[in-house]
Amino acid sequence: MLKIENYSLTLIGNDGQDLPVLENINLEIKKGTCLGIAGESGSGKSVLAMSILGLLPKASIKSSEGHIFVDGEETTNASEKVLNTIRGNKVGFVFQEPMTAMNPLMKLSEQIGEVVYAHDPLATKTTVEKKVIAALLRSGFKEPEKFLDSYPHQLSGGMRQRAMMAMALVMEPKLIIADEPTTAIDAELQIELIKELRNQIDKNGLSMLFISHDLGVLRSISDEIAVLYCGNLVEKGPAKEIIDNPKHPYTADLISALPRLVKERKLPKSIEGILPSPDSKPWGCVYSDRCKRVFDKCSSERPVLKQVGENHCVACWKI
Ligand SMILES: Nc1ncnc2c1ncn2[C@@H]1O[C@H](COP(=O)(O)OP(=O)(O)OP(=O)(O)O)[C@@H](O)[C@H]1O
Ligand SMILES: [Mg+2]
Repeated sequence: MLKIENYSLTLIGNDGQDLPVLENINLEIKKGTCLGIAGESGSGKSVLAMSILGLLPKASIKSSEGHIFVDGEETTNASEKVLNTIRGNKVGFVFQEPMTAMNPLMKLSEQIGEVVYAHDPLATKTTVEKKVIAALLRSGFKEPEKFLDSYPHQLSGGMRQRAMMAMALVMEPKLIIADEPTTAIDAELQIELIKELRNQIDKNGLSMLFISHDLGVLRSISDEIAVLYCGNLVEKGPAKEIIDNPKHPYTADLISALPRLVKERKLPKSIEGILPSPDSKPWGCVYSDRCKRVFDKCSSERPVLKQVGENHCVACWKI
């Protein structure tokens, strides 16, 4: 459903400087599976998601290399016309900030209905309403009819995020790209929504790219997990394998920082230091200035991904 091949992207910074935000990314999502993307704030998760559908402002792009295919169709350098048919029809996008993606002056029914009309201008009112209600139900609204006339500001943060989900699901796309879709939702609703999404993957063959900085959340929904650090993939593999047997020091550090995943009553340890900005990355391994296992080679040469198990790859000189 999704193939990203040797994709690199350089954006333009505030002072006109080059920002290499993504470097040589290779990823794949098979039909009916979910790939989780993990990484700290600023690692490039949203930029990667937006690149898939050509959603980044053209003026902010310095250069890009490589290819991205959605269901066999190339989206890199595709025309707006081609991208528009892919957006919504083939791919539904759940944005990180529901408030900026929704029109504050539109009722929920109009907001979600508009997506249907955009792809089928001749749709009847009854068909549209049926589709809207079905999408709301699939996004966890118990009595969707009650919310059709609500405006975004009348909904809680969690409900707005579910409404975004409904907008993404309404055209029954084959692939959903969900960028931190559960961050504004309390823990209980989060579990419910993840269950619902996983259901859609297993029952309807939906494919999904699920972005979260929380590996605990990713474990519960993903088949595979890819860990992004400073625009570089440092590890990818089966979700269980990544959580139970992380190989890259960064993945291991992310797991130790998660209270729920730390076993034997050890206290969670936050990772020391901060993520370097894209224009001040260390020369060798991108994690070398924070890594506890660093040695000479790490600061002089960038490691590439190498296979360590079935579908499990790690970019680290120690492995
Ligand atoms: N339009 C843009 N122009 C220039 N730089 C950008 C642009 N959008 C993002 N960036 C930069 O790209 C890098 C990656 O940002 P991105 O938003 O993808 O991070 P993220 O992993 O999604 O973080 P978060 O978890 O906070 O959402 C950051 O350094 C950010 O400042
Ligand atoms: Mg983001």
